[in-house]
Amino acid sequence: MDIVDFATLTDDQRAQAAGVMRAGFAPIGAYQGQAAETEVTTFFEDPDRFALAALEDGAVVGFVGGVDGYPKALELHPLVVDPAHQGRGVGSALLTALEARAAAMGKLTVYLGSDDEIGGTNLFGAEVYPDPLAALAAIAPTSGHPFFFYRRHGYVAVGLIPDANGYGKPDLLLAKRVAGP
Ligand SMILES: CC(C)(COP(=O)(O)OP(=O)(O)OC[C@H]1O[C@@H](n2cnc3c(N)ncnc32)[C@H](O)[C@@H]1OP(=O)(O)O)[C@@H](O)C(=O)NCCC(=O)NCCS
Repeated sequence: MDIVDFATLTDDQRAQAAGVMRAGFAPIGAYQGQAAETEVTTFFEDPDRFALAALEDGAVVGFVGGVDGYPKALELHPLVVDPAHQGRGVGSALLTALEARAAAMGKLTVYLGSDDEIGGTNLFGAEVYPDPLAALAAIAPTSGHPFFFYRRHGYVAVGLIPDANGYGKPDLLLAKRVAGP
């Protein structure tokens, strides 16, 4: 597997990246149809965004994006692996590559939001008020969720947006230090 900058992708590979996005996010109904192409295009055109693609035999099997907002923190958005290639280390390799790029950019932190829109953590459907941080401290998997994938890679919960996607459907915020102060 090779990890390359989006800037090096051919038109075919760019279309493959959109296809991976559609397939990977199909379970939550996000980035379907033309929305995937629109999102992929932002990583070529928006100067505050970049992305890294994982190639197998020249085909895009996953990608990770970075969105530059804060002086010293980089947002990861999105991370997606083609379902046919999940569970083989592609997502982990992309995460590591993004962290290295962030450190090379002079960032100290990588952060992200991982929505629980369809269940997977015990916060799905739960009333998190009046103490959302207590609810977050007691988070546990139900059917499984990327939140725990990130945690195994050293990310820690730094907050949540209650009801971000509807009642009981929070966005879970995680961050990891990628370089020393
Ligand atoms: C989350 C996601 C990016 C992970 O990608 P992935 O390629 O499956 O990730 P990896 O293979 O590196 O790791 C996944 C699991 O496979 C295991 N794994 C890693 N390498 C492996 C290998 N060579 N053989 C078998 N298992 C392996 C990891 O231990 C990990 O286990 P875990 O689920 O217990 O953490 C992927 O599931 C995805 O695209 N999901 C849909 C989109 C999405 O939800 N993105 C995140 C939004 S915040």
